[in-house]
Amino acid sequence: MKLTEEMKAKVESILARMTLEEKIGQMNQESPSIVGGFDVPFSELIEMLTDGRLSQEEFEKLMSTAKQDFHEDEIRAGLVGSVMGNDPRKANELQKIAVEESRLGIPLIIGFDVIHGLRSVFPIAIAEAGSFDDALFEETAHMAAKESRAHGISWNFAPMIDVAHDSRWGRVSEGPGEDVFLGSRFARAKIRGLQGDTSSEQNYVAACTKHYVGYGACEGGRDYNTVSMAPNQLFNTYLPTFRAAMEEGAATAMAAFNDLNGVPCTVNRYLLRDILKESFGLQGFVVSDANAIRECVIHGIAADDEDAGVQAANAGMDMDMGTHIYKDHLKKAVEDGKVSMEVIDEAVRRILRVKVWLGLFEHPYVPEDVIEAYEKGIPAGHAQLSRKAAQESVVLLKNEGGILPLDSAAKVSLVGTLADSVDEVTGAWAMGWKKEDCVTILAGMKNSGLDVAYYPCAGPEGGLNEDELEAATANGDVIVAIVGETTAMSGEASSRADLTLPGRQKEMLEKLLASGKPVVTVLMNGRPLALGWEAEHLPVLVEAWHLGIQMGNAVADVLTGAVNPSAKLASSFPAGNGQCPVYYSHPSTGRPAGKSKFTSKYLDAPAEALFPFGYGLSYTTYEYSDLKIDEKEDCLKISVRIRNTGSRAGTEIAQLYMQDVAASLVRPVKELKGYQRVFLEAGEEKEISFGLPKKEMGFYDNDGKYRLEDGLFRIYAGTSSRDVLCGEIFVSFKV
Ligand code: NOJ
Repeated sequence: MKLTEEMKAKVESILARMTLEEKIGQMNQESPSIVGGFDVPFSELIEMLTDGRLSQEEFEKLMSTAKQDFHEDEIRAGLVGSVMGNDPRKANELQKIAVEESRLGIPLIIGFDVIHGLRSVFPIAIAEAGSFDDALFEETAHMAAKESRAHGISWNFAPMIDVAHDSRWGRVSEGPGEDVFLGSRFARAKIRGLQGDTSSEQNYVAACTKHYVGYGACEGGRDYNTVSMAPNQLFNTYLPTFRAAMEEGAATAMAAFNDLNGVPCTVNRYLLRDILKESFGLQGFVVSDANAIRECVIHGIAADDEDAGVQAANAGMDMDMGTHIYKDHLKKAVEDGKVSMEVIDEAVRRILRVKVWLGLFEHPYVPEDVIEAYEKGIPAGHAQLSRKAAQESVVLLKNEGGILPLDSAAKVSLVGTLADSVDEVTGAWAMGWKKEDCVTILAGMKNSGLDVAYYPCAGPEGGLNEDELEAATANGDVIVAIVGETTAMSGEASSRADLTLPGRQKEMLEKLLASGKPVVTVLMNGRPLALGWEAEHLPVLVEAWHLGIQMGNAVADVLTGAVNPSAKLASSFPAGNGQCPVYYSHPSTGRPAGKSKFTSKYLDAPAEALFPFGYGLSYTTYEYSDLKIDEKEDCLKISVRIRNTGSRAGTEIAQLYMQDVAASLVRPVKELKGYQRVFLEAGEEKEISFGLPKKEMGFYDNDGKYRLEDGLFRIYAGTSSRDVLCGEIFVSFKV
């Protein structure tokens, strides 16, 4: 977000004309409330939709029939700065009130959760991150921005850039996985895609980086839970994605629900003012998460609503999402001297900056022809991009006996209730899609020309239909089993303690296997699952996540071999439940897991992940050789040769890691420092090289100070965080 002098002057001139009430109004975000027999705030409805209490259909019906209060009078009175919603005509109506009927004509900033696409839903973030494709991250974000703007949304509550190590946490689905380096590149690309560099173009939105900060480290993976960590962990693992987003010019940030070391992020002055605004240089504003200011009372950090509002405003929380606490209490707090006018002015200035920069004053409305175009369907090209993103996000975990790609003449028995449900392809936090745009796996396989017969048999919920199972095994040459989680089993408020396949799906797989027919298992899920049994017994495992509207076509593309899978895991998979959290970049212990009993391991589970970060197979194979490390003045140049040793072309995601062998703080056993997508024809060999800037080889200490310490570094390059070549170099950072 680059602000010109002219923009800044415009902000100041508006600010100078505002009353205190109008200023506080800008700090207030309203959600339409459903009134008349259904007294639930819109934000809760959205959560109900997300966690499965409401289906998409029920939600749409409710929205079209229920009487809603859109707070028109308050908008007219200048008491609302932002609303939530995704209906373009309603957006225009409300915007008209704000622009043409309020005293100062300040447009609303309309926000919505467009996490992985609006109408054109893309793969959930944890899946897309596995493509390691920055250009794709940017392109899908840009398309989401374009569709958002066409629906009146100028502010996306995305990207979600919480690094997370514990897949019990349901929200791992919404973010880029376990790694800080990948997460930071993902964050930057998403900001570029959402915001572009021309603020006034109608195709871009303000990004809202979330959830600031440490939410991914909630204790035990239980949503909304407490977070405690040492400063070095905060600075090295959880803050960098936000630092990267701010460097890229992210316009806004959303504070996380959790407390960090005892202080809820919502009222955490150190996090909001000192780090985010002062140190990282956020130019725009911070919004609370839904209801979070009021929750400070429940946290036991504020005595009452007023106290919570005072603490939040003073900590640098610029906008209140949905509680009315600012609207109801801030004026008196200012009059009583508990909150200064400077605090209010700073918040409003930040909010106005974003509105001015977005060009909302010049272009507050969605043009009617744009609304009509979307009513006819999504523009050409959107489904193709969704399909490409989905293809690039499928991870081949196991392919024994070359069962895949499927023989095009084979009779396929497709089983699993997930295979035929449009509600399950889009995954958590997808709210603008239309049924007619969604391709299920059953539909996709039929589209591909395969001879498919469908037998639902069993799913994540419900029973097991033995008759269908028997027919499936009797009739097919090969069985394709779709198993996993429903959409509602991941996302917000969807932590799970048992990460094995839910329901009777394992039993179904056992029975399918016992038939002696080849079984291809395709997983649809929103988090790393515990697949110890499956990895041991099933010949083929394909991780297909929730891939978006084109899921079915993309899965068929991979199963038939039309597409050679290339994605890698952005998050490690445990073998069993008790291994969580499991992640590759853990700090070195004094007793690394080994043969001896007295080492860091479990008696009854492996110490290492079943499938580690960066892991993923292809229909071809790659061989790495010749790792070379060259020291230049300000960087290391690392080269490695990769040969496609199989019989078909493919794209390999080559990864670069390092280890700081001895430092003044314990460092991770490996840290990702680079990646590249490398296309190789069958038999082709290429030398690729990575530049590792020396300034990126340091770490933050417990005072938040960045340190570059001379010493030995191990450099690794390879196909996953586990399977790498290794070299060593002594690096001196002194000039
Ligand atoms: C709660 C979620 O934590 C957040 O991610 C989301 O943006 C808001 N609600 C608004 O829906």
